[in-house]
Amino acid sequence: MRMVDLIAKKRDGRELSAEEIQFMVQGYTEGSIPDYQMSAFAMAVFFKDMTERERADLTMAMVHSGDTIDLSAIEGVKVDKHSTGGVGDTTTLVLAPLVAALDIPVAKMSGRGLGHTGGTIDKLEAVPGFHVEITKEEFVERVNTSRIAVIGQSGNLTPADKKLYALRDVTATVDAVPLIASSIMSKKIAAGSDAIVLDVKTGAGAFMKTVDDAKELAHAMVSIGNNVGRRTMAVISDMSQPLGLAIGNALEIQEAIDTLRGKGPKDLEELCLALGRQMVYLAGKAKSLEDAEEMLQEVIRNGKALAKFKEFLASQGGDASVVDQPERLPQAAYRIELPAKQDGYVAAMAADEIGTAAMMLGAGRATKEDEIDLAVGLMLNKKVGDLVRAGESLLTIHANREDVQDIMDMLYASITIADQAEAPVLIYDIVT
Ligand code: URA
Ligand code: CA
Repeated sequence: MRMVDLIAKKRDGRELSAEEIQFMVQGYTEGSIPDYQMSAFAMAVFFKDMTERERADLTMAMVHSGDTIDLSAIEGVKVDKHSTGGVGDTTTLVLAPLVAALDIPVAKMSGRGLGHTGGTIDKLEAVPGFHVEITKEEFVERVNTSRIAVIGQSGNLTPADKKLYALRDVTATVDAVPLIASSIMSKKIAAGSDAIVLDVKTGAGAFMKTVDDAKELAHAMVSIGNNVGRRTMAVISDMSQPLGLAIGNALEIQEAIDTLRGKGPKDLEELCLALGRQMVYLAGKAKSLEDAEEMLQEVIRNGKALAKFKEFLASQGGDASVVDQPERLPQAAYRIELPAKQDGYVAAMAADEIGTAAMMLGAGRATKEDEIDLAVGLMLNKKVGDLVRAGESLLTIHANREDVQDIMDMLYASITIADQAEAPVLIYDIVT
């Protein structure tokens, strides 16, 4: 088999066999197929697409390019949730204990934040003492005993994807649905779960800027998952503005606690229930999505979800008393309001720019090596569609420096006030 023939085949719009895809991914991972051939192939895919079967085969070839996590020692159906990335996206912090409270195993491998998006591990580390440096054996044991544990990414997962994603980045071939879908799904499948729930974001703060693009990606990922024997569902949700009110590590822990108490921001709660009911359903714990939602509401009402969060924090070394005494979370030295300059309705709060402002305050990293400040961030006092009077606070800046003029300028530029505006749709579609 020769790579040049496979490139020509795809260039001419023909379908590659599983063996051909396997040959290509393996050769590329090992280095026998050079970057220039792989980039020509990626460009051919950009123009000629891949069939559902090719997408599934590409995904599995990337899964088998490196280590896979074996979660078979954990009892029950393991359901993982993946978000395509957002700003102030507090959902995992809420969903993990919420679903675990229904006796569903949550074996979560998470990452740190980069750029305008935050990472679940950073957020959890805002709880004093909490750590993810546990062994694989401890991880499995904790999920078996308390149904929930979080571990950092480890091992050599999907090296083919790492190499190909970096190549796509510099060859203008990132934006090809078959390549994005197989890239994301290969990482989820290698991480070992039985079923997958996807939160595909759309809007300014998201990877997919339009609803149509997000729908196409969601359908592509759901079909890959189902074709390779991992039941998959997706929610397409808004990321034109930040989710909930809190953006920042300790602030989002507080927001998750409020939401687990049933007192969180409505949009965050609604999205957690939409994703949560798919998780409960796929785990085989409910006969319908409606029943699943009722079960989730019940563990919020009866306090089991919040109790599970405390148990989880304590089991990984965290100070669970933060749940009842939030002042024990890291606190910023300054709280500075951002007053509206005019009367009107909030028409836009650009999620990407607001996320970047939070990052520049110290809540996130510009490069992987940056240290973050767990206490700082932003608390929105208004959201898109809300009425605001001149002088009223749009948001509160939690900072560890007194002069935040640069941040205020960025925030003003990211917020639009108009004579009329409506709240955006939160959930655009459900893909099952
Ligand atoms: N995120 C990924 O992990 N892969 C892509 O190809 C695009 C976004
Ligand atoms: Ca939030």
